[in-house]
Amino acid sequence: MMKMEMKVLLLLVFSACFLTARGASSSSCNLPPARWCSSLETAARCGVLKQCLESDFLRSRQTSEPVQVALYYESLCPGCRGFLTGMLFPTWVLLNQIMSVTLVPYGNAQEKPDGQKYTYECQHGKQECLGNMIETCILNMTDAAFPIIFCMESSSDVIGSAESCVKLYAPELSMDKVMSCMNGDQGIQLMHQNAMATRALKPPHQYVPWVTINGEHTEDLQDKAMSSLFTLVCSLYKGPKPEVCGGTPKQHYRSYCNQ
Ligand SMILES: *[C@@H]1O[C@H](CO)[C@@H](O)[C@H](O)[C@H]1NC(C)=O
Repeated sequence: MMKMEMKVLLLLVFSACFLTARGASSSSCNLPPARWCSSLETAARCGVLKQCLESDFLRSRQTSEPVQVALYYESLCPGCRGFLTGMLFPTWVLLNQIMSVTLVPYGNAQEKPDGQKYTYECQHGKQECLGNMIETCILNMTDAAFPIIFCMESSSDVIGSAESCVKLYAPELSMDKVMSCMNGDQGIQLMHQNAMATRALKPPHQYVPWVTINGEHTEDLQDKAMSSLFTLVCSLYKGPKPEVCGGTPKQHYRSYCNQ
């Protein structure tokens, strides 16, 4: 039973990667309802992504606070991309019923006041600032932000893939709205919030990806998150463990979508 579920979920991630790679763009839902939740992609196409993720949530009879995992990262930092696509996202697909994820795209960027606004410089250049901004706006605009960001970060062209990733996972979200956020005051305001959240870290971040667990960062938690976030989240969750925590699917992680 558990093995079955694992297989379905693994399949689901793989098919998401596969479809992403092909840049699937159909936005119609012509499947019977019983199959709407069979993959992230069909769930998005049928407009029920949130409900499908929540049905996992209900099945698990979650009774305790979810483990809060926050990632402070940069859109083009290779280590960040590796962690987000190879560890954080697959763990969340399996454990979304007992964990919450906060993404803060900013990292080692620098903020400069410019009149009433701010300008930004990023460690990996202008393109990275653009990637951070797209992801920041998307995080503010849809519940499907994490699959979209996973899709972008696992593509060879993080920024160029944004539009097809949005189409795939949030067909109702118009790219024009995302663009007007990116190019307007709202984007700057949201990025400023990322800057403040990053600067408020205690201890201050020394590198990216930088992980906090329930708001806390220690070297030990960081190391455990990097080597097996799945094991860490299962072990920290105080409620009855979901079935999936019984296994040790560790070796599967690193192979997702790595090219
Ligand atoms: C989006 O950003 C605005 C501020 O620009 C904020 O008021 C709102 O709560 C945010 N929404 C989400 C879902 O984060």
